[in-house]
Amino acid sequence: MDIKFLEKIKTKETKVGIVGLGYVGLPLAIEFAKAGYQVLGVDISESKIEQLKRGESYILDVKSCDVYEFVINRGNLQISSNYEILKNADTISITVPTPLRKTKDPDISCIVSAMDSLLPILRDRENYAIILESTTYPGTTRELIYDRLRLEYKYLEAGENIFVAFSPERVDPGNPKYHTKNTPKVIGGITKRCTEVVTSLYSNVIETIVPVGSSEEAEMVKLLENTFRAVNIALVNELLLMCDRMGIDVWRVIDAAKTKPFGFMPFYPGPGIGGHCIPLDPLYLSWKAKSYDFYNRFIELASDINGNMPRFTVNKLHRIMNEHKKCLNGAKVLLLGMSYKKDIDDVRESPGLEIYKILREEYKADVYYHDPHVPSFNYYTKGEGQGHGHEVEVGGDSESSNFISVDSIEISHKIIQTFDCTVLLVDHSIFDYSSIVENSKIILDTRNGLVNNGLANHISTSTSTSILNKL
Ligand SMILES: NC(=O)c1ccc[n+]([C@@H]2O[C@H](COP(=O)([O-])OP(=O)(O)OC[C@H]3O[C@@H](n4cnc5c(N)ncnc54)[C@H](O)[C@@H]3O)[C@@H](O)[C@H]2O)c1
Repeated sequence: MDIKFLEKIKTKETKVGIVGLGYVGLPLAIEFAKAGYQVLGVDISESKIEQLKRGESYILDVKSCDVYEFVINRGNLQISSNYEILKNADTISITVPTPLRKTKDPDISCIVSAMDSLLPILRDRENYAIILESTTYPGTTRELIYDRLRLEYKYLEAGENIFVAFSPERVDPGNPKYHTKNTPKVIGGITKRCTEVVTSLYSNVIETIVPVGSSEEAEMVKLLENTFRAVNIALVNELLLMCDRMGIDVWRVIDAAKTKPFGFMPFYPGPGIGGHCIPLDPLYLSWKAKSYDFYNRFIELASDINGNMPRFTVNKLHRIMNEHKKCLNGAKVLLLGMSYKKDIDDVRESPGLEIYKILREEYKADVYYHDPHVPSFNYYTKGEGQGHGHEVEVGGDSESSNFISVDSIEISHKIIQTFDCTVLLVDHSIFDYSSIVENSKIILDTRNGLVNNGLANHISTSTSTSILNKL
């Protein structure tokens, strides 16, 4: 092994490449740039590259002043949509998306196409590291990265002249306490030496490193973490369905249960799960397990329960409206929050999108939404004429005829009063909860947001003006 390569890592002379500058890749690039590395970032999105070149961030957790500092002032974060920029990179971290296909099978095409682009620029090269960070099934790093490289360049030998590892990204967007630097990082290499080399790189920028026995172990760690969350959220969602039937306040049950100082960890129900991780990652695991004739019952059940929560939320709203002799058909409905969770701008897999669609298409409600973090969202619909968005594309999807962009509306006391009901879908910190309570006619709170924001008395008694309900 080239001792110079290890020395370069230690003295921070390594040029660090990052492929994919999204929610995961951009914060990582900034962290390496802050530590003084020369960072080379690639993204196929021209618009993202242009924004970064203007010194602007498109991710809430990354400040524009940091982008400006490293891209423009110091210049140690170079970005491009052209892979040629990585020609001199000593390490390459891959952080591209790993979505699901329509059939709910893993779609690893972004990893494959990133490798297609990397192979030509790695010709005749040795002594470099490749680290996959995208969440994926056990075996991906070995099969799609190392075996692919070896097939092309037979002189490469893991742990000798190339270092390949998997290191799952655990970033929790919007978390004020834990970010890239202080979230412990798991690293598992193709060989022990690969783990050691990649550990020495990441330990220069991340506070705690957790080396594990292989890339497969590291891939499984990430899937365990997210399956754990998906299953536990499904458990409390099922408890919510049961408590709804029995007339018990599930939120108060969880608050009391969590006072137990050992053996219990609180999870919270809600209108459904979202984001690029929790709804998808467990299905990567169950898909791979099937090739070993193993069927994950927990994962399938959790996916089923969590996936039905948006529909339960609409059914509950329907029930509440009926109780008050109001019809959902034609009702003016205000959805508060469209992102998949609190204080972020990400709408990927957000349950709000499905709730919007069901209310609008099945119940024929007059639906609007307000989310200061989400100025607009797109959805496909089968050619209906009504709506408050503007049509931006027709015929984009084989099953749909219209692609609609829906805009967030501004709200005020008076505007809230014009709605027949308000549904709190996301408990953003920025919302004026007193105004929501005082001006809504009927409220369905799907996050216990009113209680958590000090309006506990209101929710238990109902004010004279509002009828308050929790999921
Ligand atoms: N978002 C999260 O909170 C989070 C947390 C942990 C792990 N992850 C995992 O990290 C991975 C990335 O997720 P993300 O949220 O950052 O996705 P993202 O969509 O925000 O970012 C991915 C970026 O990769 C770019 N890209 C796609 N194909 C490319 C290619 N061939 N070459 C170069 N760039 C390409 C896209 O343009 C995009 O900017 C996923 O596997 C995800 O499961 C995400």
